[in-house]
Amino acid sequence: MRKVRAAGGVTGLGRAKVLPVGLAGGGVWHTIRLMDHFRYQDGQLYCEQVAAETIAREVGTPVFVYSKATLLHHYRQLASAFAAVKATICYSIKSCGNLHICRLLANEGCGFDVTSGGELFRALRAGGEPRKIIYAGVGKSDQEIARALEVGIAAFNIESEAELVNIDRIAGEMGKSAIGALRVNPDVDAHTHKYTTTGKKETKFGVDIDRAEDVFNRNRTLAHVRLGGLHIHIGSPVYKIEPYVLAVTKVLELAARLTAGGHHIEWLDLGGGFGVNYENPQQAMAVTEHARAIVPLLAGKPYRIALEPGRYIAGNAGILLTRVVYRKSSGTRKFVIVDAGMNDLIRPVLYGSYHFIWPVRPDAANIPEGRDRARQPVNGETVDVVGPICESGDFLAQDRPLPTTQRGDLLCVFTAGAYGFSMSSNYNNRPRAAEVLVDGDRFTIIRRRETYEDLIAAEQV
Ligand code: LLP
Repeated sequence: MRKVRAAGGVTGLGRAKVLPVGLAGGGVWHTIRLMDHFRYQDGQLYCEQVAAETIAREVGTPVFVYSKATLLHHYRQLASAFAAVKATICYSIKSCGNLHICRLLANEGCGFDVTSGGELFRALRAGGEPRKIIYAGVGKSDQEIARALEVGIAAFNIESEAELVNIDRIAGEMGKSAIGALRVNPDVDAHTHKYTTTGKKETKFGVDIDRAEDVFNRNRTLAHVRLGGLHIHIGSPVYKIEPYVLAVTKVLELAARLTAGGHHIEWLDLGGGFGVNYENPQQAMAVTEHARAIVPLLAGKPYRIALEPGRYIAGNAGILLTRVVYRKSSGTRKFVIVDAGMNDLIRPVLYGSYHFIWPVRPDAANIPEGRDRARQPVNGETVDVVGPICESGDFLAQDRPLPTTQRGDLLCVFTAGAYGFSMSSNYNNRPRAAEVLVDGDRFTIIRRRETYEDLIAAEQV
């Protein structure tokens, strides 16, 4: 891990001025809808007090840059919003799993939501406490289950009866007892992309809510699994509160029926999925609003609560910096070809996702005041921002109004902290980008850029 003090700093820019109102002073932060600590100052983009240009110059591009203050702000906001029901926050590691990021969260007392043996490994390596780790996923292998039992995770979120029976068998063979929550599918429409909708009937996740009692009743006598909880996760990102209220209401009714039927339900895991601001602070509600709607439903109930947010913590905490390599026109379209591709950020082509993209040092007339898709540059142009990969789906944005850019210009792709690096790949044999963490006026390389040797390392057997 390399620590670097940012060259040049930001003269005359004290911490209090950099931080959005309320963050530095404490106390009132829950009332504001913070986006992040990436802002234009003196004509250029800063992450906290470090100029984005400095990082790009010293680390190269493409590079993911995370703001520690933003990350911790969102974690603390969540933890505090749900403190009234003593919720355990289990960070969904799939959203952004860098060890250093996870360690920061573990040091705050955060637990982890893992979905594979690899994520479990990561969570433990980052200092995650096994008793705060929950393990979800429809296809847990025997080896993965055994490892989770060995380290003593808090609970399995069990996605099918077949998995329940298998965990019981493995735990029995190992002389262990497992603790599980049954993931139920509440059949609630979260109004998100069909690939990230998980709470409706006919997805592969969980057990239909109206079959859940049968599953509990049929498996009362399992010797090595104690089914003591219920789990829901309705989708990601979810921008409305009503689907949560509906899903929580349904799961509470189920828990009451199960309790009446002699089952001992101790905890409810309400999943993640809270939307974040890709465009403006009005897009996503602060999680305090969710808490305002959900906490009263849970108050006084005899259940412990877990939440599994990923995007809410990491999404606005990261950006992707990329440089313009070439420009070209083809027919009526203009292309800005950059050095980040779909292997670095697959969300635009996979889900049609919108990420605000803007020059790191725009001309004075084009300092952006927001990140909305309708933002029109002064003397700009409409372009496709594309990567170097040999696929037409390799774009970061299409038909995007942008200030005019030239070869060598540095662009920022905003809100790339969640499902950015974690979904990146080596497609076209492109070494994966570096990751940098900014803390005030310092930055640290928390993952070095991969090398060509890294690309073939596992093949040298
Ligand atoms: N819990 C479970 C069971 C999940 O499946 C997920 C996300 C989460 C928690 C965390 O959701 P979050 O709080 O981060 O929204 N790659 C997509 C998102 C896929 C989400 C998969 N599951 C994207 O880039 O939008």
